[in-house]
Amino acid sequence: MSSGNWVALEEDSGKIFLVEMVDDMTKIKGLGVFNPTEIIGESEIGEEIVIGQKILTRVSPRLPELYKGMKRRAQTISAKDAGVLITRLGIGPGDIILEAGLGSGGLSLHLARVLGNSGTLVTIEARDEHAEVGLENLSRAEQCLPEFPNHHHISGDICEVISNIEDLVGNVDGIILDLPNHEPAINAAARLLKTGGRIACYCPVTSQVERAWETCESNNLEVEWAGELMERQWGKASKGGMRPVNGPFGHTAFLLIAYKN
Ligand SMILES: C[S@@+](CC[C@H](N)C(=O)[O-])C[C@H]1O[C@@H](n2cnc3c(N)ncnc32)[C@H](O)[C@@H]1O
Repeated sequence: MSSGNWVALEEDSGKIFLVEMVDDMTKIKGLGVFNPTEIIGESEIGEEIVIGQKILTRVSPRLPELYKGMKRRAQTISAKDAGVLITRLGIGPGDIILEAGLGSGGLSLHLARVLGNSGTLVTIEARDEHAEVGLENLSRAEQCLPEFPNHHHISGDICEVISNIEDLVGNVDGIILDLPNHEPAINAAARLLKTGGRIACYCPVTSQVERAWETCESNNLEVEWAGELMERQWGKASKGGMRPVNGPFGHTAFLLIAYKN
């Protein structure tokens, strides 16, 4: 699909606004009310656009822009953890991946990018108000990315929709669980995993990672790796040289990856 319907605009601060190119007065949070077709028109990538008091640059709506400009409700998984989840699970074109919960779809955007047209993404979300945001972000991605997986979304608790998932896609190559209570979700979903497939649990606190570890083992899944990823950004120092930037050096979550023999 072409990205013709969506335009990404970047502020000097790096903030991204995603604007749908409709020919009508439209309210865009942070930019005000304007007609996108009249103001943005046929501008090129890299061109400056003035909207009210703001000077913005038109940029390509690629994965980083889609992520930065996404609607947010539930806490999202960012590039630091998404990248390692994708590589440690070996996710790529043609795979069938099950993800719960969808939340705002931060991880789903990353998964959609690597799965491409030949992949399948099944998202599950218990809360409709979260799904609404996540599905809106995925719909924008479908219009902007050059390829997009076959996507199925199921509303409900993952523990209660296992047979629906099985009917839709059969067994899966990978499962990623970002939800508060991993234990029942692992117990329910483990049987969907193909031999040689992997499951990942995203666990903000240590009690979750410990329970996820024990539950994986009791389902005959071999824990391959558990831990956290530390990211420290560097920048130019005011008096010359490079140093870690000021700012929080925070924790996101512990990741646990288990393998099905
Ligand atoms: C932290 S959010 C997921 C964020 C998402 N990974 C992202 O990157 O945007 C966790 C989501 O899991 C959903 N959830 C919690 N328990 C669930 C369950 N048993 N089945 C399905 N979804 C569940 C919550 O409603 C919430 O939206």
